[in-house]
Amino acid sequence: MTDFKIGFTPFAGPFSGAIIVFCDDRLKFGPATTRIVAKTGDLVQRAAKADGFTGKRGTALTLPVPQGLDAPALIVIGAGKAGELEPNDLVTLGGTAMGKVPGRAREATIVAELPSKAMSAEQAADLALGVALRAYSFDRYKTKKKDDDKPANRTVSIAVADAAAARKAYAVREPVAEGVIMARDLVNEPANVLYPQEFARRATGLKKQRISVDVLDVAAMKKLGMNALLGVGQGSKHDSRLVVMRWNGGKKGEAPVAFVGKGVCFDTGGISIKPAGSMEDMKGDMAGAACVVGLMHALAGRKARVNAIGVIGVVENMPDGNAQRPGDIVKSMSGQTIEIINTDAEGRLVLADALWYTATKFKPKFMVNLATLTGAIIVALGHENAGMFSNDDTLSDRLTKAGQATGELVWRMPLAKEYDKLIDSRFADVKNTGGSRSAGAITAAQFLQRFVANKTPWAHLDIAGTGFDSRQTETNKSWGSGWGVRLLDRLVADHYES
Ligand code: BES
Ligand code: MN
Ligand code: ZN
Repeated sequence: MTDFKIGFTPFAGPFSGAIIVFCDDRLKFGPATTRIVAKTGDLVQRAAKADGFTGKRGTALTLPVPQGLDAPALIVIGAGKAGELEPNDLVTLGGTAMGKVPGRAREATIVAELPSKAMSAEQAADLALGVALRAYSFDRYKTKKKDDDKPANRTVSIAVADAAAARKAYAVREPVAEGVIMARDLVNEPANVLYPQEFARRATGLKKQRISVDVLDVAAMKKLGMNALLGVGQGSKHDSRLVVMRWNGGKKGEAPVAFVGKGVCFDTGGISIKPAGSMEDMKGDMAGAACVVGLMHALAGRKARVNAIGVIGVVENMPDGNAQRPGDIVKSMSGQTIEIINTDAEGRLVLADALWYTATKFKPKFMVNLATLTGAIIVALGHENAGMFSNDDTLSDRLTKAGQATGELVWRMPLAKEYDKLIDSRFADVKNTGGSRSAGAITAAQFLQRFVANKTPWAHLDIAGTGFDSRQTETNKSWGSGWGVRLLDRLVADHYES
C-alpha cells in the first residue's frame, strides 16, 4: 500500500528534493558527501554545535533551505562508528533516513556514502530496503485529506557509486520488502473486509508469480477429516478455507521446506467469549498466515532456488447457535481426538490439522509454523522476541541466527514431557488447554507438537507479541508488522538454496 518509488542514481547527480547524507560520530563525511556539504560553507558545523548533534548512530540534524545548495533541505544522519555497521544496521539507517524526509516532500535523495568509504552495492540495497519498509503506511480507509498528508507518487533516489550494481543488489531485496508490505496490509485489514474467503482470494493472487495455489473448501477439508480446523469455523457465517501455496524454484523432486500459518481472521473467543477491551486487535489473529503469504511472494519474487510450501488455515472464530461448545470432542485429521475445554484456544486447533496435512502430504525437510497463539507469550517475552519452540536444535539455531541478522528476534522456550502431561484429557486423547494459566505458551506448543507427523523437524513461532501492535522500529511504524517475512526469507537464503 505504498504509492512510492525507489531509484538509484550516480553520485554525480543532479539530485532532486531534500538531500540526506551520513556522517560518523566525529561529524566526518565521505568525499562525495563532502563535495555537497561544502557548498553550504560551515553551516553544518555551526548547526551541529547549536543543536548538540554529534553524529551518534540514528540521530539527525535537519537544515531547511540551506544556503548554497539548491535543495529544500539538507539532512545529516549520524551513522556512528562506521566500522561497526552490520547489514541490518544499514536497513535501520535507511528507515531513519526515510523517517526524516519531510512529510509533504515529493522527492528526496539519499547519498549512500559512509565517512570511511562509499557504500557497497549490497549496503546501498540494504539501505533501500529500510527506506521501502519505513515508507509504508496503511491509509486505505482515511477519506479526509489533511494538509500534511503525504503526496502521491513519492520518489526517493539513492545516490551510490555504482548505480547499476546497487539496482541489481536491490532486485533480490525488493520482493522481500513487497512481501513484508503484503503481510502488513493483510494484518491491518479489518475482519469485515478480510474474512476467510477473501483471504483465500488474495492469496490466490500469488498465481501471477508462478506460485501454484490450491484452495480447499469445507467439503474438501471434511473429506480429509480436518474436524479440528472445521470446528473452529462452524459458528461463523464465513466458511473456512485451507490455502496451499507451492513455489518450485529448487531441484525437481527435492523435498520442500514448509511454512504453516494461523489465519484466524477474527477471534472473538467463540462461546468462551473474550472481554470487550482490545477485542478489536483480534482482526490481527491471522498474522501468521499473512507472513506465510508475504514470504511466498518474497521467495517467488526473487526466484529463490528452493522448493517451498505455504499452508494457511483461514477461519473465523465466532459465537453462534452452531458454534463449537466447551466439552465438545472432535476427531482431527491425525486421528487423535481433542476435547475442547476453551473455544478461545482455537489457533492450535486450526494448526493441528494444517500441520498434520503439511507433514504427511509434502514430507518437508522442516516445517515452521507462525501463530499469534497465546497471550502468555506476551507475558513471557513482551514485544521484543517471538517465542520459539522446536524439536530440532539445528533448525532452532538457524532461526536464532536469522533473527539476529534481520532484527526479527526469536527466543527459544522449552518443550518437555512434564508439560505435555498437562494436556492429557479425561475423555479424549488430548485437551486444547492446560486448564490453568501456568506455562500457557508451552502447553500450547506441546499441543501442536502432538500433531507434527513423522518427527518432522519443526519450529513453532508464537508471534502474539510481534505480529501486530509490536515494538515500533525505524523500519516499522505499522500496526501490522509483517514480522517473520524477513526472518524466514533469510533462513531459506542462508541454508536451503541450491
Ligand atoms: N489469539 C489469541 C492469543 C492472543 C492474545 C494473540 C492477545 C495476540 C494478543 C488466542 O487464540 C487465545 O485466545 N489464546 C488464549 C488461550 C487460552 C484460552 C488457553 C489466551 O492466550 O488467553
Ligand atoms: Mn483465541
Ligand atoms: Zn486466536
